[in-house]
Amino acid sequence: MSKSIKLAILGLGTVGTGVINLINDNLDELKRRSGRDILITEVGTRRQRDDIDPTIIQSSDLMATAASDNVDIVIEVIGGTTLAKDVIMHAIKNGKHVVTANKALLAEHGNEIFAFAEEHNVHVAYEAAVAGGIPIIKVMREALAANRIDWLAGIINGTGNFIMTEMRDKGRPFADVLTEAQELGYAEADPTFDVEGIDAAHKLALLASIAFGIPLQFDKVYCEGITGITLQDVNYAEELGYRIKHLGFAVRRDGQGDGSGDTSAAGIELRVHPTLIPQNALLANVNGVKNAVLVNSHPLGQTLYCGDGAGAGATASAVMADVMDLVRVLGSIDSNNESTNGHHVPHLAFIPEQLSDTPILRAEQMITGYYLRVHAHDNPGVLADITRILSDAGINIDAILQKPAHKLGQVPVIILTLPVIESQMNLAIEKIEKLDTITDKVVRIRLDELA
Ligand code: HSE
Repeated sequence: MSKSIKLAILGLGTVGTGVINLINDNLDELKRRSGRDILITEVGTRRQRDDIDPTIIQSSDLMATAASDNVDIVIEVIGGTTLAKDVIMHAIKNGKHVVTANKALLAEHGNEIFAFAEEHNVHVAYEAAVAGGIPIIKVMREALAANRIDWLAGIINGTGNFIMTEMRDKGRPFADVLTEAQELGYAEADPTFDVEGIDAAHKLALLASIAFGIPLQFDKVYCEGITGITLQDVNYAEELGYRIKHLGFAVRRDGQGDGSGDTSAAGIELRVHPTLIPQNALLANVNGVKNAVLVNSHPLGQTLYCGDGAGAGATASAVMADVMDLVRVLGSIDSNNESTNGHHVPHLAFIPEQLSDTPILRAEQMITGYYLRVHAHDNPGVLADITRILSDAGINIDAILQKPAHKLGQVPVIILTLPVIESQMNLAIEKIEKLDTITDKVVRIRLDELA
């Protein structure tokens, strides 16, 4: 067998430890598939660990490890966007290929990092950054390379999906389930990233760039989390044949006007929010820590990719898939003495000079259906007032559910609408909230038939 490939792992948390365990468990398979011996030569860790093979050098100087002559591929799993960025840039500068699970770093600084990597003729691989163990980056960059992607919708945060599933199935309180997700190693170091949708927005920014050939634009992702979802809304949605899931959407819109008034604009919607989807949709039945990404492309049509979206084993699987790709790239240099570029797809799937400047649409230009929960006094004509406002705004009602007045004398009215431009819905909700008969703010959750 030819020369060994030497790995450095920076960070020994859930994922770093998962990578070591995977290599220990599957080393023979890895060797048989790559034709190379794979060795962890160094780990970068703040605290020395005595449960690690003593032949592996442990160092708290992560910059030195990232540049070590004893390393071919640097695996960054420390997380965060400061030290992680410094060590990755240093590794690149020193000619190392990099594998990272760091979606926050790439979503915020990926354009700069990829450009630096191109300059230094190395690769930054990031399968583990999106949807845990699901090989969605590889699928979109390689298997779907001949398709035009029109939209994708995904459950891309395992912690959030785990919480929503436990709340719906077992009526468990939010905080309880979040603690369990942290214990299981699913949640981010700062779990608000999971429950406020920020982690999903990071991943969506990456998916959208690969789907549409646009630079990374995390700052333009519209983002809502799951903290405002109540069991009451979960149950009403179920009663109407829908399920609330926290989804990320990247949608290409051709537009039918200039985007002013009620005309739709051309551009790309990037949004993360709770969404009602039909109970019988496959995505509605992706539960627990599972992630799934539904891609609608031409001419292929819809394809769905599903698997564990968080946790040590799933993430280590994606990290090592990238390592295996790079081992093959390095292998071809050895035998042919050629540049690596010809052997690897571009970082964002499209060649850098071909990235497009299609605009990302603002939230008020986005088009979705809606679930509205309106609380009104139990008076004659209330329903007529609400429906008149919606009809004057050209909003088409798909279903209505009115519950009997509860003890406060208020009636919850649930309305499902067909897709509408968000600015039109904002105006209608403003008018509804001004009615004397309306007692509370209107609760709105987006709805998508995924058709
Ligand atoms: N906190 C993330 C999640 C981990 O729950 O999906 C995987 O990115």
